[in-house]
Amino acid sequence: MGFIKRLFGISVTPSPADSSCWEVKDGQILLDLTKAPQLKNPGGAIRLENKGLDKRVLVFCDEQGQLHAMHNKCACAGWRLDPHVSSSTVQCCTLGMSTYSYDGQVISGSAKEPVQVFEVEREDNTVVINLA
Ligand code: FES
Repeated sequence: MGFIKRLFGISVTPSPADSSCWEVKDGQILLDLTKAPQLKNPGGAIRLENKGLDKRVLVFCDEQGQLHAMHNKCACAGWRLDPHVSSSTVQCCTLGMSTYSYDGQVISGSAKEPVQVFEVEREDNTVVINLA
């Protein structure tokens, strides 16, 4: 990740190319993988925001092809996160670079609290993220 992006706290994780790939319903995010090809490959990620969500959500595919979802808010000062599957971590997009495990625990950096992770259920191309 480039120094300039980190300097300005710009996340490299994009919003979904097709915004119709997800919706919020009854406290869950319903995600259609046929419309979110970014999540088909290790390291692929999207960030879900608005549409009635009360918190930003990062969704990403790990090195084994498993999907993860977590609150997209660094526990240091609230900037966005990006997955780094080469080290099986998630990292703040700023120069602070607080780093978390996939289960949200702080590995390094200035963050003192974990990041909330959300349960992900997948059946074929349908993904349900439980926000409770
Ligand atoms: S906001 Fe993430 S390290 Fe400070």
